[in-house]
Amino acid sequence: MSVLIAPSILSADFGRLAEDVARAEAAGADWIHVDVMDGHFVPNITIGPAVTSAVRKATSLPVDVHLMIEDPERYIQDFVDAGAHRVTVHQETCPHLHRTLQQIREAGALNGVALNPSTPVESIFDVAGDLDLLLVMTVNPGFGGQAYIPAMTDKIARARQLLIRRGATEAALQVDGGIDAGRVPEVVAAGANVLVAGSAVFRHPAGVEEAIRALKASGASVDS
Ligand code: DX5
Ligand code: ZN
Repeated sequence: MSVLIAPSILSADFGRLAEDVARAEAAGADWIHVDVMDGHFVPNITIGPAVTSAVRKATSLPVDVHLMIEDPERYIQDFVDAGAHRVTVHQETCPHLHRTLQQIREAGALNGVALNPSTPVESIFDVAGDLDLLLVMTVNPGFGGQAYIPAMTDKIARARQLLIRRGATEAALQVDGGIDAGRVPEVVAAGANVLVAGSAVFRHPAGVEEAIRALKASGASVDS
């Protein structure tokens, strides 16, 4: 299974966002991850459709929008119109999750559902067949630069097993939070195939190019 790298622009230089995105693409990034926070579902406030549109114009890579917002249904179309190829909502914000996942596809994007660290994998059992992506949060969402929660490694493995059991073998299994090159072998061995990394890419002391090279090399070391 090949491993994809999705740099999170949350740790980029917002004053030079287009340059940072272009640098990540040139360095071999696979998707660009956009973290949207509303100050309600999570304590932080970040960006919205306008910045998503600016990212879309700065890259030819898929734009992967992670909605950490309440009532995400109200904004799905806005983000797709802004250029999102993928829209991921949180299970915890969607009482009618099946409907919301359909709504994302009808809006013209691939769907995804994210699980907070305390939300059980079994909570998406009955929608697994309708998923393009399952995101196992490996920190509590809200901020970049947090430490990976070690108990999430077993959860990633159980998420992979659930996808297999439900026949959702085409769905991506994404991890997000505290991922660096040292952590990659563990999460890939557990079954993750899309790795979000913010600070490990844009705050890497040796630069974005070396950061992405190191993440990919760590992923490939598990593949072989
Ligand atoms: C966390 C966000 C992440 C975050 C990852 O709430 O969803 O995408 O930016 O940042 P790092 O890789 O620094 O943990
Ligand atoms: Zn994210």
